[in-house]
Amino acid sequence: MTSISRWDGLLLDCRLASMTANGIAYGAIENAAIGWKDGRITFAAAQSQLPDKPESLSVNVESVEGAWITPGLIDCHTHLVFAGNRASEFEQRLQGASYEEIARAGGGIVSSVRQTRAANEDELFAQSLPRAQALLQDGVTTLEIKSGYGLNLETEEKMLRVARRISAALGITVHTTFLGAHAIPPEFSGRQSDYVDEVCVRMLPAIAHAGLADAVDAFCETIAFTASETRRVFETARGLGLRVKLHADQLSDGHGAALAAEFNALSAEHLEHTSETGVAAMAAAGTVAVLLPAAFYALRETKLPPTESLRAHGVPIAIASDLNPGTSPVLSLRLAMSMACTLFRLTPEEALRGATVHAAQALGLLDRGTLEVGKRADLVLWDIQHPAELCYWIGGNLARRIIIDGCRIS
Ligand code: NIG
Ligand code: FE
Repeated sequence: MTSISRWDGLLLDCRLASMTANGIAYGAIENAAIGWKDGRITFAAAQSQLPDKPESLSVNVESVEGAWITPGLIDCHTHLVFAGNRASEFEQRLQGASYEEIARAGGGIVSSVRQTRAANEDELFAQSLPRAQALLQDGVTTLEIKSGYGLNLETEEKMLRVARRISAALGITVHTTFLGAHAIPPEFSGRQSDYVDEVCVRMLPAIAHAGLADAVDAFCETIAFTASETRRVFETARGLGLRVKLHADQLSDGHGAALAAEFNALSAEHLEHTSETGVAAMAAAGTVAVLLPAAFYALRETKLPPTESLRAHGVPIAIASDLNPGTSPVLSLRLAMSMACTLFRLTPEEALRGATVHAAQALGLLDRGTLEVGKRADLVLWDIQHPAELCYWIGGNLARRIIIDGCRIS
């Protein structure tokens, strides 16, 4: 083998939670090795399948002494670019005010909008970056960031530029989603349909042409946008060639899941109030269910998402942090995975699948989420004895080493 074709890295004596469907829990491969070149996995199998002299295969060869390796975690639903915080609303909710009451009284999302508009781009970047760093330290190598705290073109663009800067600064993949239809901005109060015009006629085309959004989302809810307003946003997105996703059926059953499915959405998210009909429509469309247990927890919700029905219909379930200042100030995807097990009764394997292969599907990123030849070399080595520990431990620094695109970043 000539040096030019040698791999960039080869780890020996690993245990791989490959997350492939190899018939073994976690797609586990014991006594394994994993190699990569130019950011792509070139080997992920039993070490016995390597040729005799592994040192001839790769520039760097190292034994990791039995460490478990998973695909880099993927947080497929966050709102982590925002200014300020809403700890005061947390206090109000503890005194009995509901999320809807706070929103209707001019707090909630609109309060983050005020603070995000007031921050300049560098301030917004400086406040948001540590949140992405916290996710990364806990094993997240790909994340989605939504806009939606600008609600005018200038601030929505500022948020999406900050999301792109976070990607460049940390070397992680950031998938951006335009969420102009998140709330009605104060200047459009009483003129909701004019604001939907603004989103569809002005904001979405400008953002699409600037290449700032990889997908489009909306908040379809009694306190936000109706199904027909959401439909307009989705039709505009489709006309611009952008895939859609939806905040659906979080606080009530607004038939959001079925609407998302009708537009072949990548994902429908929250889903606490989704009916069997909505689940069946998602199954038929191949729409991923993104469950957000940290928001369920923080809002002290009691209506569980239809996990059994999602399983029965074969809908892929993803788990995400929903990191946002109002309903999910959670800085760890693993914590959301733990909550998915304890609150939503997912198995730890389902939760890990939900934060890897199904999360990749929810973002339309088919080049990652499993450890197999040809996929991106985004890997995490963990200080654990079994993959279930990723959901079992609440907190702690379990990620020993993080490799993104074949490059060691910690
Ligand atoms: O996913 N549901 C709407 N959007 C966010 C909440 C945003 C906020 O309250 O700031 C969510 O829970
Ligand atoms: Fe959200």
